[in-house]
Amino acid sequence: MNTRFFILFSTLTFLIMIFQNCTNPKPEFSEDVHSFSNPNDVVVKHIDLDLNVDFANKIISGNAVLTIENKTGARELLLDSRGLNIIDAFIDDAQSTNFKLGESVEFLGQPLSVRIKSNTKKVTIEYETTAGAAALQWLEPPQTADGIAPFLFTQSQAIHARSWIPCQDTPGVRFSYSAKIKTEPGLLALMSAENPTKKTIDGVYEIKMTQPIPSYLLALTVGDLEFQTLGERSGIYAEPSVINKAAKEFEDTEKMIAAAEKLYGPYQWERYDMIVLPPSFPYGGMENPRLTFLTPTVLAGDKSLVSIIAHELAHSWSGNLVTNANWNDFWINEGFTTYLEHRIMEELYGKDYADMLASLGYQDMVKAMKILGYDSSDTHLQMNLKDRDPDEWEAGIPYDKGHFLLRTIEAKLGREKWDSFVNEYFKKYAFKTMTSDKFISYFESQISDKALLDSLNIQAWIYGPGIPKNIVKVESDAFTKVEAQIETWGEGMPASKLETDNWTTHQWLHFLRNLPKGMNRDQMAELEEWFGFTETGNSEIKHEWLLRVIENQYEPAYPAIEAFLTSMGRRKFLKPIYKKMYEQPEMVAFAKFIYQKARSKYHPISVDTIDRILEWQG
Ligand code: BES
Ligand code: ZN
Repeated sequence: MNTRFFILFSTLTFLIMIFQNCTNPKPEFSEDVHSFSNPNDVVVKHIDLDLNVDFANKIISGNAVLTIENKTGARELLLDSRGLNIIDAFIDDAQSTNFKLGESVEFLGQPLSVRIKSNTKKVTIEYETTAGAAALQWLEPPQTADGIAPFLFTQSQAIHARSWIPCQDTPGVRFSYSAKIKTEPGLLALMSAENPTKKTIDGVYEIKMTQPIPSYLLALTVGDLEFQTLGERSGIYAEPSVINKAAKEFEDTEKMIAAAEKLYGPYQWERYDMIVLPPSFPYGGMENPRLTFLTPTVLAGDKSLVSIIAHELAHSWSGNLVTNANWNDFWINEGFTTYLEHRIMEELYGKDYADMLASLGYQDMVKAMKILGYDSSDTHLQMNLKDRDPDEWEAGIPYDKGHFLLRTIEAKLGREKWDSFVNEYFKKYAFKTMTSDKFISYFESQISDKALLDSLNIQAWIYGPGIPKNIVKVESDAFTKVEAQIETWGEGMPASKLETDNWTTHQWLHFLRNLPKGMNRDQMAELEEWFGFTETGNSEIKHEWLLRVIENQYEPAYPAIEAFLTSMGRRKFLKPIYKKMYEQPEMVAFAKFIYQKARSKYHPISVDTIDRILEWQG
């Protein structure tokens, strides 16, 4: 090639590249390794659902009409789907169009590619769900509290929305939605939206959500449900036999909303309602906007487990308003929320209470470090979940290490400055996404004290392993008293003489967690005789006690293990118990025997986790 021509050609190419870089700065949506979608080309702005919930066949079927913005004149819309049966696709006003499901990838499902035009505004997908949809649990009447009607609920976080709605299933994309839900008369349908409070005669519900949300907050539940008002902005849904107990347990909800607003600014979602689901719900709570989903295992009868409400409510700021851009930055949702949860609890119930929560959280973090290894990259706050299931975290890292980072910042900066930073952060990034990098640069832009920034070393917390040295210490006087009693007992004082009057749930948890290793049968029997742990109605205490039962092979309480594991499906309780049993060769057969019975009653998300622990072959 002629040299002059070559130089001219290279210079031109170079100039074009520079020009493109100036006109195309950073793409709006950062990479999400858990989504096939292409929001930088075409982005979904709104979804209209028209769905039939068919209990007889355990299928949701109908249409999703996606309103899109085609930013680059792209010819294909890429959606996420998993196990969906795609029947047909149309663009704009019922024009037929081509569509294709790509190859299936573990955890992620299949990309759904729909042919569009540069000016296409609407894409309609006609589809139905299939058996085993990861988000759905269909319950037979006996699996509900009242045992009369069937029940359905969804769990979309982290990447299960795609198993019941074809969508851009990445937390960076936000859209509003509406839904027409048709189900059996006699059942109430609710979503993460503006909800009805009464059943209709024909079982048809029109529901809308005007605030834009990410797909993981899409939620639906259908069952024999009643509503009770708790206050001006809040209320509770539950099955008829549960509603009164639930309303009593959660009577402080309005106070929590007020406390959260005082700390972090106005509540942006108008109403805050909750629903108590049947016991197989795999989580403690799920922050579906305007309708938190809850496990019935929080109903202790004495409000002692209501920090879960503070937690899910706190997500109305951290998570639902300022959202992690992808699941690697999950701590942005959960670490912040755990921090906010503790602050709300401190407002309502005082510093001693919050200190106990923090101290238990510290123990959870240390436990996670030991499981994963202090040097493991899985102990970084920013995770690397490529080719991995985003549901498989150890809460001790994103929740508790995340919380302790923010607590450490608070301690160094002073509460006043830190609170005003957090307020600004929620204001500035409301309805937007956040990453670790963005958080650090925003924080550094707001804090002028260079020496303080250096001493915080946020980078080490987020991109490094273990527990950084500058972590702020927590001390709980209430727990110091518990430790003294454990010591006295160890020195031979009978359990009947221990000073445990007026101990709270959290003190009992601390007691159970810190009992001596290798207790014999008599010691276990003595504790059981005086404190009656096996009979407790408090799920957290029961869970902690059963772990000691397994470690110390206290056979008289074995039936209680089986009863507990078959009574609910909350993954936080199932996982440690099955794991501990599997670690003891003598108990493996018993663990498998229980699981064999319970497995079909657990939610697919819990099944995934326990299958892995027990190396279940089916
Ligand atoms: N958003 C989470 C639950 C979740 C996280 C579901 C990731 C799926 C994927 C919820 O806010 C939560 O953290 N629940 C906790 C309770 C909380 C008090 C720590 C739970 O379920 O244990
Ligand atoms: Zn949470």
